[in-house]
Amino acid sequence: MRLMSASPVKISLTGIKPTGEPHLGNYVGAIKPALRLAEEYEAMYFIADYHALTTVRDPKLLRHYTRSVAATWIAAGLDPDQVVFYRQSDIPEIPELAWILSCLTGKGLMNRAHAYKAARDRNQEAGRADLDAGINMGLYNYPVLMAVDILIMGTDAVPVGRDQMQHVEIAADIAGSFNHVYGDSFRLKIPQAIVPDAETGRTLPGLDGRKMSKSYDNTIPLFCGESQLKKLVRRIPTDSTPVEEPKDPDGSNVFQILEQFATPEIVADTRQRLRAGGMGWGELKNQLFDVLNTQLSPLRERYDALMAPGSELDALLAAGAEKARKRTAPTLEQIRRAIGIN
Ligand code: TRP
Repeated sequence: MRLMSASPVKISLTGIKPTGEPHLGNYVGAIKPALRLAEEYEAMYFIADYHALTTVRDPKLLRHYTRSVAATWIAAGLDPDQVVFYRQSDIPEIPELAWILSCLTGKGLMNRAHAYKAARDRNQEAGRADLDAGINMGLYNYPVLMAVDILIMGTDAVPVGRDQMQHVEIAADIAGSFNHVYGDSFRLKIPQAIVPDAETGRTLPGLDGRKMSKSYDNTIPLFCGESQLKKLVRRIPTDSTPVEEPKDPDGSNVFQILEQFATPEIVADTRQRLRAGGMGWGELKNQLFDVLNTQLSPLRERYDALMAPGSELDALLAAGAEKARKRTAPTLEQIRRAIGIN
């Protein structure tokens, strides 16, 4: 009999900041591609509620967003039995390691972090004398905490958008500093950023034709009710091409959204009907509404059930935290020993 040596499965880590309600753009551009990582990686997902604390000051709202993110991802298909899914604040090893690694992080490195620099630039533009006005230490230390999220799990791959790339590079830098000093006793794995592939990581047009984004206030919420959904779909801008005239499907915002949700058959058929003429934008919008409503209704039901008080959500998160700590607790123990604190 031949002994199989299993090649170690690589670890991916997805962090989700609970700062708002999920919309269709998040679902297509972030949630679905991130869930697909579980096919290839030992996939971990967590809710970065300590990161949200740098901006969310309303306890009710933070609690709501945190539960909402958890319910959203499970409704969207995350299986808590198959992956590790936890809330950052349930893992006490994370803030402890954040202090330890901050002692190995150059202040200059943090001065160069994009989010901090952007906040200073805004102060400069507003003509404020103190460029650090209104900037809290949480924002300043944000990259250290994020590095900890990544490094404590022994993460290989971090799926991120462009704006988060630098944070993964900083995490790699900090791991290098740690390894330089303590590497003989314990080594942190150097992580890599991965950008979701262009096909799955598509951006969706929003209600004004620009990229769907919370900051443009042009989103369709993922779990809005049926009548709201119908109303919002009606608001997507179209041109004034008359019904009977042929239309270019790829130039249409409505069609671009349809493409992401409908079956390939419906997409091909609709494409052909638009090109032939005789299909108006109103009809296309009705079709988009039907497709979205059919696809999203079961998700919405699951989401609502999980959001209800006393649902199994809390137990799922508690079980996830326990799984996560099986990894974080022994890792921190080794780190404490390596640095001389134990
Ligand atoms: N900074 C990320 C964002 O704003 C969220 C995040 C926190 C994260 N910690 C992480 C992402 C660790 C990946 C890995 O989207």
